[in-house]
Amino acid sequence: GREPLVDPFGRAITYLRVSVTDRCDFRCQYCMAENMTFLPKAELLTLEELDRLCAAFIRRGVRKIRITGGEPLVRRGVMSLFDSLGGRLGQGPGQGLSELTVTTNGSQLARHADDLFRAGVRRINVSIDTLDAEKFRRITRWGRLEQVLDGLAAAKAAGLAVKINTVALKGTNDDEADRLIAWCGEEGFDLVFIETMPMGELDSVARVDQYLPLSMLRADLSRRWTLTDSDYQTGGPARYVTVAETGRRLGFITPMTHNFCESCNRVRLTCTGTLYMCLGQEDAADLRAVLRDGADDAALDLALEEAIARKPKGHDFVIDRRRKTPSVNRHMSVTGG
Ligand code: GTP
Ligand code: 5AD
Ligand code: SF4
Repeated sequence: GREPLVDPFGRAITYLRVSVTDRCDFRCQYCMAENMTFLPKAELLTLEELDRLCAAFIRRGVRKIRITGGEPLVRRGVMSLFDSLGGRLGQGPGQGLSELTVTTNGSQLARHADDLFRAGVRRINVSIDTLDAEKFRRITRWGRLEQVLDGLAAAKAAGLAVKINTVALKGTNDDEADRLIAWCGEEGFDLVFIETMPMGELDSVARVDQYLPLSMLRADLSRRWTLTDSDYQTGGPARYVTVAETGRRLGFITPMTHNFCESCNRVRLTCTGTLYMCLGQEDAADLRAVLRDGADDAALDLALEEAIARKPKGHDFVIDRRRKTPSVNRHMSVTGG
């Protein structure tokens, strides 16, 4: 069938997030453990296979695809996937993709920004948790802020709109919110704060000690900034305000304090062809097995329907002192958020 994919709770699936690699050139201490075991290359879908799965989703109503990782821009040849997906943009009203985009740590942007724009990407999300080079090094373990700032300059020059993602970390970057807002204002970037989610074991920190409810941050910010609720929508989970002093948007992603599952429109495909119906649940469908069984388009279609029929109502993330294990065992780097 060509009808849109609708889950048992009546939510249409229009947004596909595709993680093209579980590897990353950084090791953010809230995202990964220092010694991660990465997937052997033989487990990965080829970029052609990923493209074929994306095409199957687009036939069934997906309008927005976001490439994620790990760090998506470290996968060899990834630009060919952007090119083929870019070719599926804007094929008539109500058909094909309406947006192709990427979430990146920015480290490889200097060399990829122009190619991304050429492929049809117009807007990118870049993760930056601090503007302090020393702190940046500490959080990412291996990252260099300078390299990311160069990448951002290249993105701007290429004509890409930029949104900065900042995970709010108590005791780490909660003193930098004002600086980040001001900097984004100067640079012309939107900014989104994210509540940390209990995904995967960490080695040096307890999630509960880092967790900062964004309702508190927002209340604090509104003593110094004029924040006005905005209707702006991207199809993602953020709720936006505008900051009168900078003229830019500021978003809040609050899975812990104000969950947005009711309006969920997305699923996640990993680089091994595993489809996660919810970021906050373990259940997944193995689309690689279907593909490699020689499925034709109709069989693939059926597999998508069966998977979406299993989409749960929402996550049940808990961050709590008594809880010693993460709600979900896989790290964020498996699904790219
Ligand atoms: P826009 O298209 O700009 O709205 O992007 P987005 O927010 O959809 O994507 P991005 O990759 O920037 O995601 C930002 C953060 O939101 C990531 O850390 C994700 O983990 C989190 N996030 C995105 N979608 C979901 C979701 O469905 N559930 C939960 N719990 N978190 C999500
Ligand atoms: N909770 C919330 N956000 C996280 N990210 C990585 N791990 C977590 C977590 N446990 C963020 C990254 C990036 C986005 C894709 O997900 O910083 O901005
Ligand atoms: Fe959707 Fe699950 Fe995220 Fe909720 S937690 S918004 S149901 S993916």
